[in-house]
Parts: sequence; C-alpha cells; structure tokens
Amino acid sequence: MKHCFWVALLFSQLAWGQTAVVVPKNSTITDSLQKLEWFGEAKLGIFIHWGIYAVDGVDESWAFYNRKVPYLTYMDQIKRFTASKYQPKEWTNLIAESGAKYAVITTKHHDGVALWDTKQNTWSIPQSAPARRDILTPLVWSLKEKGIKVGTYFSLIDWSHKDYPAVTKDSIRYKLTEDTLRWNRFVQFTHAQIKEVNDAYHPDLFWFDGDWEHSAKEWKAAEIRQAILKTNPNCIINARLAGYGDYGTPEQHVPIQRPKDPFWELCITMNKNWGYQPHDTVYKSTFELISIFADCISMGGNLLLDIGPKENGEIPEEQVRRLKELGRWTKKHSEAIYETKAGLPLGHFYGPSTLSKDSTVLYLFIPGKGEGPFQVKGIKNQVKSIEVLGQQTKGLAKLVGKISWSSVPGVWYFSVPKPSLDPEMTVLKVVLDGKIQLYRGQGGFE
Ligand code: GLC
Repeated sequence: MKHCFWVALLFSQLAWGQTAVVVPKNSTITDSLQKLEWFGEAKLGIFIHWGIYAVDGVDESWAFYNRKVPYLTYMDQIKRFTASKYQPKEWTNLIAESGAKYAVITTKHHDGVALWDTKQNTWSIPQSAPARRDILTPLVWSLKEKGIKVGTYFSLIDWSHKDYPAVTKDSIRYKLTEDTLRWNRFVQFTHAQIKEVNDAYHPDLFWFDGDWEHSAKEWKAAEIRQAILKTNPNCIINARLAGYGDYGTPEQHVPIQRPKDPFWELCITMNKNWGYQPHDTVYKSTFELISIFADCISMGGNLLLDIGPKENGEIPEEQVRRLKELGRWTKKHSEAIYETKAGLPLGHFYGPSTLSKDSTVLYLFIPGKGEGPFQVKGIKNQVKSIEVLGQQTKGLAKLVGKISWSSVPGVWYFSVPKPSLDPEMTVLKVVLDGKIQLYRGQGGFE
C-alpha cells in the first residue's frame, strides 16, 4: 500500500503517543489537518458491503473475475435484488448502538453495479433490480440525522464497463496502451460517477478501492481529489486513490507495529467475507473483535468493521448480535476509547492501552479475561488512583523493585477484583500525577 497524501507531502513525526505533522508553508492544503480531527476521534466505523452478490451469496465481484461463476450468471443476480425488508433507520440505530461514529457503504463495487440512480448509462439497482429505487439516499440521510459521519465506498475498477480494459483474471477487452481514447472515455465516465456521488451525498469520507489496476496518472487521481474537494472541501479521502488520499487502510491484517501513516484505519470482515455469504459461519467472536479494536486504538488507529446485509436488506442475526455486544462494551468504556490517543509503546505492558489527550490518564485494556496481576513497567509517575472503568470499583496496585536512590521506576502489578471483571474485556483507568513520563532504558542504575 502506498503511503497517503500526507506522508508524501508532509513530514510526520511519529514520536511515541503523539503525531506531529508539519505542513509546508506553501501548501494549499493547510486546512486539511483539521478536517481529519473527527476521524481521529471516531475510532470505530461500520463498513457495509451491499450489492447483488448477496443474492446468491457469492464473492463480491471477484466471483466472476476469478471465474468461480460465469459473468452472466453473476449479473443475473440483479434480477433478484429486492431490498424488500430494507430499514435504513434500523441500520442507523444499530450502527449507533455499536458505538461507531461513521459508516462506509458500497456505492459501486468492482462489478460496476451502482446502488444509486446513476445517469451514466450503466448498470444500476434503480434501473435493473426489482428494488427499483436509489437505496443509498435514505440511509445517508438517516445517518446524517443521527450525527453519524457518512462514507461512500467507490470502486475505481469497473469490470463490467465496455471501456474498462480488464474483464476477468485472464481476459481483457483491450490494452490501454493501444487505445488511449477508449481509456479516456472510461476515465471520463468514472469521474462523472464520482461527481454524482459527491453531489448527491456530500459524503464526509470517500473510500476508494481498486486503484491497484492503474497508475495515479492513468486514473487522473489528482483531478479526482481536486474535484471532490472543490465542492466538498472537508471530505476525507482514504489512501486507495493512488497516493492522493489522507489516511492509510490496512486490510484484514492487524498491524504489529504502528503504521507509518499519521491517520489509519484497519478494515476487517466479521466472518471471512465482505458481502453476505450464508455458508460462511466462521465469525470472529465479540471478544476477538473487541481485542482487535483495542489493538487498533492502542496504536492510534481506527477499526472499520464490516457487515454484509442480505439482498432484502436484513442484517444477518450473527452480525446484529456482535454489533450489539460491541455496543455494550464501547458504551461502558467510552472514556478509554473516544477522544484518546495511542497508548504505551511496546515493552511497558503486554496488552493494548490508550492515553487521555492530556497524557495524564492511562487506560489499560486487560488482555484475556483474567484478574491479573498485570505487569506495567517504566512509568516514572506516581499513580494517584486506579479504578475498574465502568464499575466504580478500585483496582489493586502494588509497586515492586523501586530503589529509593535510583531514578529508574519500579514495576507495577495491577489487578482487578474478580467480581468487577467485564465479561469481554476489562479496562483499568490509571490516573497519574501529571503527564506520563516513561523510562525507556536498559535497566542499569541511573
Ligand atoms: C479489497 C477487495 C474488495 C473489498 C475491499 C474492502 O480491495 O477487492 O472486494 O471490498 O477490499 O476493503
């Protein structure tokens, strides 16, 4: 994955616990850091992959590209996409209940089927599916009404379009180098569709995908960015716009080290697939989702957790349950989640952590489900209090190995009284006597 726009343009100082970005004096994007503020504080987003692939429960677009299903059989699903039980307000309530502060919905996947009423003379749900209507507008409005930021996923790749080179993994319509006029026609079409989405929904976030098939120059990525920001200046763009996005998007793999992009978001599936596939029952447990989420925020990132509604608009019960369970946990621990920043660097605590913005409160996410004791090393501060978040009970603390005449801090052992354990993941709130100060040495006397 290429680094995002900021990394290319700005010098970012990834010191522990903070991200300082210096905007070059002559930059035209000086306003832009502010616009990312809500994103940095949002922490949790819900990704929605909804499309005709939910009808037969096959891979979104990739089913025909990888020749698992013939193209015509795949596209035939559009005739059975009904949205008959679609309740956008219920979706919104569920998203809000999970604790997510933004949602990103597919407006068009690589199969080229638009979910809105595109005027570009191509595949769309309102034109060709029994759903017969723009299914995005009601969701966008209900999310906005509820104060949830709206993201529009848009695939640059369009394997269905008559002017797009690739069709499947082993067939092409034409070689771009041999017919640049045809390619330019496609680029014009894509830019026009992006404009339609931007004008209709005024999204807070544009989530591009599929940039890997062509270069920034071929997509005219700089123009896409410029055109979006012209009428929607606060819009955030993800990194999959061939280097012209604002934040990084690692996918499926939980980072071990803090990603280099100042802002980033891990997108993951709840089971194994993005879209609805009834035979895919290998779901991550609520505990697993929470611990992955805690890991992301511990490293200063967000989690974009995917759901795949059925063709009729119902959200599968397993997904609803997980969102609700996640919501119970995010609500109880909101203080440790939102408006916090990355926690301790590796080596101090064997688990995720976050810090209050002023660095005086440390939140420890207890790994596993035990009561401890948990070791925390290298904290130079005095601990003023320790409490089990959301329980109004005190945590237990013991300091060992502090030598009175050495400046090297001792080792804390924190534990949680058993009755105060959270059924999923317990969080300890450790109030320090001031801004956190860390000892990062090698253990010798100082
Ligand atoms: C990949 C896949 C796509 C999926 C996306 C989500 O890019 O091509 O199917 O929608 O990841 O991040």
